[in-house]
Amino acid sequence: MEMMVADFDRTVHWQTVYTTKGEDEVSWFEESPDHSLDLIFRAWTGRNASIVDVGGGASRLVDALVARGQSHITVIDLSAAALDTAKSRLPSASNVTWVVADITRWEPDGAFDVWHDRAAFHFLTDIADQIAYVGVMSKALKLGGIAIVGTFAPSGPEKCSGLTVARHDAEGLKRIFGQKYKLLSSEPYQHTTPWKSVQDFQFSTFMKIATE
Ligand SMILES: C[S@@+](CC[C@H](N)C(=O)[O-])C[C@H]1O[C@@H](n2cnc3c(N)ncnc32)[C@H](O)[C@@H]1O
Repeated sequence: MEMMVADFDRTVHWQTVYTTKGEDEVSWFEESPDHSLDLIFRAWTGRNASIVDVGGGASRLVDALVARGQSHITVIDLSAAALDTAKSRLPSASNVTWVVADITRWEPDGAFDVWHDRAAFHFLTDIADQIAYVGVMSKALKLGGIAIVGTFAPSGPEKCSGLTVARHDAEGLKRIFGQKYKLLSSEPYQHTTPWKSVQDFQFSTFMKIATE
């Protein structure tokens, strides 16, 4: 019962954010998702990857992936309003699957080559939610698939969008993700908000190396 109340609040929070603020009025806005694109195409050199952007919100990553000819893209977020914003920017023929769901409860119906998450996992401060996230990621990713997870670094902000976050480094993520995942690389990244403050992120890239 407690979980249901927490989940309800989470959805309301994010719907309120995306229905009251413009795309570039949120701290995580980036004009162009160059860093994520670079990480995705460094890690995945195959032609047409199936890619899921987890907690994608209204991010322009989906636009950039469509523009690069990627045709198996899924964007999942708690906020329907965020996804509507992203959807409204794209050509109508774009082959994107939009999923409104809590990532900790999502039941993926396909297998993905690439899992990308910029600034969603760090909102899961509860261990049970983190474990659920890893369970969903393991169902969603093919063996050999890549997970790119960007969170606030230990030196980053303690809060985002008014919510307390869990800050991570690569070793901490590795412990949470467990033995099914091999850490391929990790790097610091500094995001500059629309009001010019700098936030320390880390982006870690893992490969799923086992099913059990
Ligand atoms: C800081 S924003 C980042 C959005 C996007 N990734 C970007 O880089 O612009 C965090 C996003 O995660 C989504 N989110 C938070 N918790 C979530 C959950 N449990 N399941 C799905 N999405 C979630 C929010 O709705 C929001 O869009």
